[in-house]
Amino acid sequence: MINDFVYDIPVRVYFGRDQLKNLGTELKKYGTRVLMTYGCGSIKRMGLYDRVVKEIKDAGLELYELSGIAPNPRIDSVRQGAQMCKEHHIDVLLAVGGGSTIDATKFMAAGACVDHDPWDFLDLQKWSPIERALPIVSILTLAATGSEMDSGGVISNPETHDKIGRLAPAMLPKASFLDPTNTFTVSAYQTACGAADMMSHIIEVYFNMNQDLYMLDCFMEGLMKTIIRYAPIAMREPDNYEARANLMWTSSWAINGFVDGGKQQAWSCHPMEHELSAYYDITHGLGLAILTPRWMEYCLDETTVSKYVQFGVNVFGIDPALEPMDIAHQAIDRLSDFLFGTLQLKRTLPEVGIDETHFAVMARKSVNGGTLAGFKPLQQHDVEAIYRMCMK
Ligand code: NZQ
Ligand code: ZN
Repeated sequence: MINDFVYDIPVRVYFGRDQLKNLGTELKKYGTRVLMTYGCGSIKRMGLYDRVVKEIKDAGLELYELSGIAPNPRIDSVRQGAQMCKEHHIDVLLAVGGGSTIDATKFMAAGACVDHDPWDFLDLQKWSPIERALPIVSILTLAATGSEMDSGGVISNPETHDKIGRLAPAMLPKASFLDPTNTFTVSAYQTACGAADMMSHIIEVYFNMNQDLYMLDCFMEGLMKTIIRYAPIAMREPDNYEARANLMWTSSWAINGFVDGGKQQAWSCHPMEHELSAYYDITHGLGLAILTPRWMEYCLDETTVSKYVQFGVNVFGIDPALEPMDIAHQAIDRLSDFLFGTLQLKRTLPEVGIDETHFAVMARKSVNGGTLAGFKPLQQHDVEAIYRMCMK
């Protein structure tokens, strides 16, 4: 059955090289006091910081700044930002950076509207409602997470080894500026991790067995082929506009809610990966790259093989005349070749400094004490088995 769904993605996207001239007008819609947030220096090194500040000043807006938002953003940055919003009566937040900066900014914007600690939004025991947030505008500098066009964010709490994500429509950016030239300085490694992340966002939705809109499956296959085609080009030629533009727009559409229209779906690799990042602070896309082919192997059986066949034939062009199980194994091999060969990402957990010490607790936390109800239902022992498959 094809399920009913609501299509509503109200993010205004300014795409292209010469869009920053609209920044002042966009921000002014929400007021005059702007809190600009960013990471650990890349926007200064690439010259974007100066351009953004000039646009803000030229528009006559009042600028406040919060920098130092780390990859796998910490709750402390969120607390600091929410506090600044309250102290300075901020009207609008401007996140300039990758997913970490945008995610943290979303929770700052929500935190500014409540009296409690922002971690209460993410504490599984409290799960405080997110009903309001200050308006958010983003300028994306790394194609990966889709945070520029979705309502989610993921925040780490190093004290408790938690990394928790949450969606809330109130945190959806009002507008996002997507200029592919702002990603020219992204390293080959971060480009690869971003590609693996986008690929996973699609795979998490695509690999479900219920009947869906054929049109959406074709759309996702197109997105995956786009990543496979352009990620290696962007790694080799960092200032290739066509490659960067294709990756940037794919990052947004992989997770903005369009492709899961009507699907009954729950994600599997993301909850497993967030535990790796929480305990070992590894790059999200790298963790996903290591986990995804092993998860696919683990879930493959006679009941699921048809999805692998569709994937292998339509995305990798594998011969449809082969036996279904052969196609499925070849499809997993081709994906592994892409992730570990073409993208040059590390293949195993030991290579990124992870051993079995925390497998049991990470597995328990990833299933939240129950079952991950994704493509194949996974319990703690299943997740532990998948982690172990990643050891070699
Ligand atoms: O901190 P700066 O100096 O900006 O450097 C960053 C950082 O070191 C650098 N970078 C970003 N843009 C650059 C650049 N370097 C040179 N040139 C540029 N133009 O890249 C490094 C990584 O940045 P980060 O923002 O951490 O990467 P990404 O965009 O991959 O974000 C990852 C975070 O997003 C979460 C992940 O879990 C992780 O915490 N996710 C958010 C999602 C969402 N909101 O929907 C979904 C995802 O599945 C994911 O979980
Ligand atoms: Zn992701």
